[in-house]
Amino acid sequence: MSVVLSGIAKSYGAVKAIEDIDLTVEAGEVVGVLGDNGAGKSTLMKILAGATAPDAGTIMVDGETYNFANSSAARDAGIAMLYQDLALCDDMSVVHNIFLGREITNRFGFLRYGAMRKRAQEIVNSFSVRPFDVRTPSGHLSGGQRQVSALARTTAFGSRYIILDEPTSALSPSARDEVLAIVRDLADQGIGIIMVSHDLGHVRKVCDRVAILHLGRMAGIRNMAETSQDEIISLIVQGHA
Ligand SMILES: Nc1ncnc2c1ncn2[C@@H]1O[C@H](COP(=O)(O)OP(=O)(O)OP(=O)(O)O)[C@@H](O)[C@H]1O
Ligand SMILES: [Mg+2]
Repeated sequence: MSVVLSGIAKSYGAVKAIEDIDLTVEAGEVVGVLGDNGAGKSTLMKILAGATAPDAGTIMVDGETYNFANSSAARDAGIAMLYQDLALCDDMSVVHNIFLGREITNRFGFLRYGAMRKRAQEIVNSFSVRPFDVRTPSGHLSGGQRQVSALARTTAFGSRYIILDEPTSALSPSARDEVLAIVRDLADQGIGIIMVSHDLGHVRKVCDRVAILHLGRMAGIRNMAETSQDEIISLIVQGHA
């Protein structure tokens, strides 16, 4: 089980945002994506999430080749992306946000709120963070709890691969640790995770492998256990070790 990106390229007018990118993410691993500002990280993630069409290259998910027309096509293939703003509706409860657009209904079409609440609470409790009541309006949540809710939403939808673009940048240190712990939990449950980050410390803590982009090209992919801080930094800055 894996996502395989091959030969992915994307230009915006004369700007080659990314070129000739190969990257594989296995189920159950966390892959960090690093690179300087403008290196092409978000462009690559948006292509994998179906939000942007590539000019060239192929995407295979669990052995099948896809041409995502939009992000819901990618979600149907099992790939979900969490954007930095998280797109939660603040005046709705965590339960409603988790099931938004895919509510559980009975055979007459009425919402089964009790069933949704129970499932939402189970998912939140399954993460190794301090549990909170899923009836809480999302607008009352802490930054970390918002991340947990957004991750719970992708889990409830059965996503097998989750893309996180800078998941910890706006969080307090304790919330950061909680989110990193959940990322690890999800990977241990068999989900493949791709995490864009500028924070080498976080990447070191949670990632199995790291992919470094430099000026739109893949500068290197390393096993976390077999690389050093210095090697990663020179890949980021110079594009070679
Ligand atoms: N919609 C767009 N239109 C035009 N150019 C774009 C667009 N999106 C990205 N680019 C350009 O593509 C290149 C890669 O941008 P991208 O956002 O992927 O980088 P990034 O690695 O995510 O950077 P950051 O660390 O700042 O988030 C940049 O030169 C950027 O200006
Ligand atoms: Mg970006």
